[in-house]
Amino acid sequence: GRTHYHSFVVKSCSYTRLCSAKNILTVNGKFPGPTLKALRGDKLIIKVKNKAEYNITLHWHGVKQLRNPWSDGAEYINQCPIRPGQKYTYRIQLTTEEGTIWWHAHRAGPALHAHSGWARATVHGMVIVYPQQGTVYPFLKPDEEVPIILGEWWKKNVMDIVGNANKTGGEPILSDAYTINGQPGDFYPCSKEGTFRMEVMRGKTYLLRIVSAVMDENLFFSIAKHKLTVVGIDGFYTKPFDTDYIMITPGQSMDILLKANQSPNLYYMAARSYSPAFGAGFDNSTTTGILQYKQNGFNLFSSDPFLPSLPPYNGTLKSTEFTEKLRSLASKEHSIEVPLETDTHLFFTVAVNLLNCTGKPCNGPFGKRFSASLNNISFVFPSSDILQAYYYQIQGVFDKNFPRKPPHKFDYTGYHLPDNLLTPDFGTRALVLEYNSSVELILQGTNVLASDNHPMHLHGYSFYVVGWGFGNFDPKRDPSRYNLIDPPQQTTVGIPNNGWVAIRFRADNPGVWLLHCHLERHASWGMNTVILVKNGVASQTKILPPPEDLLRC
Ligand code: C2O
Ligand code: CU
Repeated sequence: GRTHYHSFVVKSCSYTRLCSAKNILTVNGKFPGPTLKALRGDKLIIKVKNKAEYNITLHWHGVKQLRNPWSDGAEYINQCPIRPGQKYTYRIQLTTEEGTIWWHAHRAGPALHAHSGWARATVHGMVIVYPQQGTVYPFLKPDEEVPIILGEWWKKNVMDIVGNANKTGGEPILSDAYTINGQPGDFYPCSKEGTFRMEVMRGKTYLLRIVSAVMDENLFFSIAKHKLTVVGIDGFYTKPFDTDYIMITPGQSMDILLKANQSPNLYYMAARSYSPAFGAGFDNSTTTGILQYKQNGFNLFSSDPFLPSLPPYNGTLKSTEFTEKLRSLASKEHSIEVPLETDTHLFFTVAVNLLNCTGKPCNGPFGKRFSASLNNISFVFPSSDILQAYYYQIQGVFDKNFPRKPPHKFDYTGYHLPDNLLTPDFGTRALVLEYNSSVELILQGTNVLASDNHPMHLHGYSFYVVGWGFGNFDPKRDPSRYNLIDPPQQTTVGIPNNGWVAIRFRADNPGVWLLHCHLERHASWGMNTVILVKNGVASQTKILPPPEDLLRC
């Protein structure tokens, strides 16, 4: 493979959206940030210089980072932050992933220090991984490809959102718009001019590369009068299927074919929230872009663009009708390796919790403060990074006792739960796995406070989604229904609202890896944990030595 060199300068820049200008963090002054292109098997070397007044790290979402947790970029997990004025180089070997993935600033925890807050709201971009030399797409080559990044825009400074929510104990503020390629679109004030336009020629096929860089909502996305053919998710091919809409969670990416086969006209592409935790409030606005047919130089469009119909904000069935169509391609060229037997069984509850206020402001529900947890442990980010602590055996940074099962048995879907489960424990705990163990992890959504579709993302791995269901996972009934033939391979999976998912993977990537909800408010409240996979015996099964420019906290 080839090696591609990039230099990323993180700096503040003024952008105008929704009628007002503000400074946002960018890479190289761009919003959304630069798109990286490479072939599978290539290497990316990205030199980052921080010219901003905030700490920063960059995560390569969907890259396996085989044996190289040093370049995974989760702040205080894989590295110390790149402080203002500092540099760091990410060395990325592309291995298993092929298709559309992305990169973003990574800070999932509360602001403990001079913090990087919700930097990823504006510091993100696409990574396109093409088939290796001598190989081709598993579908007819599209005529053109079109990157589509879904995002959000706040009028306020996103770097203050976590800090302010921490002060009040309440919900972080909602965004003021959803965006398509950085633009809110026709239905928001002062936005018509910038609306994203995609020009198409009748008869051609387009590969839409869609990334959800959205912070806080799952989205439905659709294009008026056009079928979408899904061919990939999270950098893995799927069996192609047609659909009128997709449901995409924060963190996910999808490859979609679109045939321009309608009458030459204007059509809206549109996205809005899928937000089953309606009690918590949500932004019900719609972002749009325009699909515009080219007609030999003339633009004689008869009417306003057609609008697609999107499922309702609480359309859990619509969401699962879509996700259950996802199947791995599982062809000869793109074979899969689902662990058929598993030797390590993990069960994590995923919960939003409440805390007593003890002297602090109390703007959460029932006079309490918001918190969130996995297995009732709310993750506390350390002040120096876990990977270095592990590698150099520095004591006191983290514990290795994250529980493999929840602390109590209870009805995860009920509304009347034991009080003790409303109050999580706090800790910086990792779950330790033996190298090469074959793992099954059940992620059980709970109704401790409100249920939501939690998009859970595992760093350093892709996994197979072998099963899901509503209600409580039943170890006697549910495993017999697993799909072990062609389960979708993903790096982010939404736990169905009031339900569970079962994922399987082989622990073949040693290192320190974050697992968290990609809804930023939940991650900020503590919905994270660390999976530490031990080295194997052979030298190619151990993590690589640290880079020369290793940062100290
Ligand atoms: Cu895209 Cu840890 O995140
Ligand atoms: Cu969540």
